[in-house]
Amino acid sequence: MKDLEIPYESLALLNEPFREEIETALSRVVKKGWYILGSEVADFEKEFAAYVGASHCAGVASGLDALIIALQVLKLPAGAEVIVPANTYIATILAILREGFTPVLVEPDPATCNIDPRRIESAITPLTKAIMVVHLYGKACEMDLISEIASRHKLPIIEDCAQSHGAKFKGRMTGTWGLGAFSFYPTKNLGAMGDAGALVTQSQGDDETTRMIRNYGSKIKYYNEVVGMNSRLDEMQAALLRVKLRRLDEVNEHKRKLAEVYYLELSGIADLILPKVSPECHDVYHIFNVRTGARDRLREHLRSSGIGTEIHYPVAPHLQKAMKEQFSGMKFPISESIHQTTLSLPISFCHSKEQIKSVCKVIKGFFGK
Ligand SMILES: Cc1ncc(COP(=O)(O)O)c(C=O)c1O
Repeated sequence: MKDLEIPYESLALLNEPFREEIETALSRVVKKGWYILGSEVADFEKEFAAYVGASHCAGVASGLDALIIALQVLKLPAGAEVIVPANTYIATILAILREGFTPVLVEPDPATCNIDPRRIESAITPLTKAIMVVHLYGKACEMDLISEIASRHKLPIIEDCAQSHGAKFKGRMTGTWGLGAFSFYPTKNLGAMGDAGALVTQSQGDDETTRMIRNYGSKIKYYNEVVGMNSRLDEMQAALLRVKLRRLDEVNEHKRKLAEVYYLELSGIADLILPKVSPECHDVYHIFNVRTGARDRLREHLRSSGIGTEIHYPVAPHLQKAMKEQFSGMKFPISESIHQTTLSLPISFCHSKEQIKSVCKVIKGFFGK
């Protein structure tokens, strides 16, 4: 018998506090009759650039496209190697492969689950042309060390910020250290109601190139300067993202408060590793992942008690069927062990502190506490 009903996420509940404003915004777009690259996108771009503290922002169709376009903006030579964490969502690696470059996987730091900066330098070869970092789960990478290595080797940085809207390292926003690729997939801390993304940049040239690429390589209609693609953020998504952006800090703060409950209740359980907290990082907990050797049993215990969880991610990218040839014979034991033990607990804007306390009670019961 399930006593509780706590979903891992509920997009309907999550969006309920924004519903009326979103409906007004969408109806405004319907009435305007301009649906692609209009004033909503332009305003969202300005507002999001200001939020991130970047000079420019261009809306695109998805986070994957933002990463692909970032690689195109850099104009890397054929045969380039791009350093990327072994522990990430597949999209980061797909972007590199889609562009015909070689992803060079670097193990994560087991404490942060993010790329281990201390392992980057030994992965650099004469073919290395960029470093792509991922601020996974809503925790910023150690960007001071990474930028120092990147500037010493004259390598540009791309930041995959799909999970890190509002996350900071030493007070500085993710997305401002390199080219910042954001996803607004519906579950993200800033989530649309469909696919959406953005690339934030610091130079006008990079911004202009991004805008051309996303729109068929064209600055002036029917005149094509580069081989572009169709990757435009649409007016509907931009209009509702503007509504949600105004409360992004509130969403992040709510998630941070829920995380505090987890730390308070779950610290000190021997076979349960909680996400690392450090004074340098302002975490936004896109995901609150715990790690335990008893992951599958714990997940089943929570499920049978009515609590939803997720696994981010069950299979490490280099072990995915699609990547078999690419990474054949390579081993990334730290990344693999994260994938084998990680469990994501509920931590949504739609959850209350009381619900999280109930989750903790069930977890403590499982560990006999
Ligand atoms: C780390 C990471 N990178 C990239 C992406 C791709 O974003 P999108 O689904 O918007 O293409 C995601 C989305 O889930 C992600 O989590």
